[in-house]
Amino acid sequence: MTAALLQFDPAYLDVAGNLDRVEALLDGVDADLVVLPELFASGYFFRSLDDAASVAEPIPDGPTTQRLQQWAAASGATFVAGLPELGDDGERYNSAVVVRPDGSTETYRKVHLFYREKDWAAPGDLGFRVFDATTRDGTPYRLGVMICFDWYFPEAARSLALQGADVIAHSSNLVRKDCPRSMPIRALENHVVTITANRIGTESVGDETLTFIGQSVICSPEGHPIASAGREETAVLTAEFDPHASRERQLTATNHLFGDRRPEVYTLGGYSETQRL
Ligand code: ACM
Repeated sequence: MTAALLQFDPAYLDVAGNLDRVEALLDGVDADLVVLPELFASGYFFRSLDDAASVAEPIPDGPTTQRLQQWAAASGATFVAGLPELGDDGERYNSAVVVRPDGSTETYRKVHLFYREKDWAAPGDLGFRVFDATTRDGTPYRLGVMICFDWYFPEAARSLALQGADVIAHSSNLVRKDCPRSMPIRALENHVVTITANRIGTESVGDETLTFIGQSVICSPEGHPIASAGREETAVLTAEFDPHASRERQLTATNHLFGDRRPEVYTLGGYSETQRL
């Protein structure tokens, strides 16, 4: 299959303008799966709750998901993209939507909220989810989704891989420098393809500025970056791989990456989770 990601600099709160820009940037991209950054059409560093509320939208009946549905139907690609979700429960979530070419959608709500996201978003309540997807030639594969800061918690990628993810789509707005060198490890330790679509540019609240670090990367199950972008460039990256290669987790004749796990000994030895904080 062919996977693509887009790295670019969204304009703050300009949802319509960002959607037009992404459509132009993706023109001619030929892929089975396209991964876009976290909050790709809204911007990230909300200056107020009102700003966040002004762009939060329901899934699937909001403008961002509807546009993704048009792109998926026209191209045959499945899309994964981040957006601020207004849930049925009235809560806002930092979410990623999976949009298939037939228009069907799935939602992941970010579990590990980063920094000021806690001011506007509720913690994700849907857990880590793996979804069925199909390439344009009809090959089924399993698609896991996580968002940005989730990378810091190895349990996120592990949960997805143990549920059978062949590919992990990782929509991001990275500001900490360590993720690009960590994703190859997440791929290696789970033997899974990872696709980190990050943004570039800066956003400010008052005198505080966040700089987004680019360096989007697609990693093979062997833990090698197979496509990577620079820190500041607008880029579409593509990579080809066999999604089912992730499933071959036999390490030696007697070792299986998951079969050799020993969950019964992965305990806290009498300590509680919070005791060492
Ligand atoms: C992040 O989770 N957007 C850093």
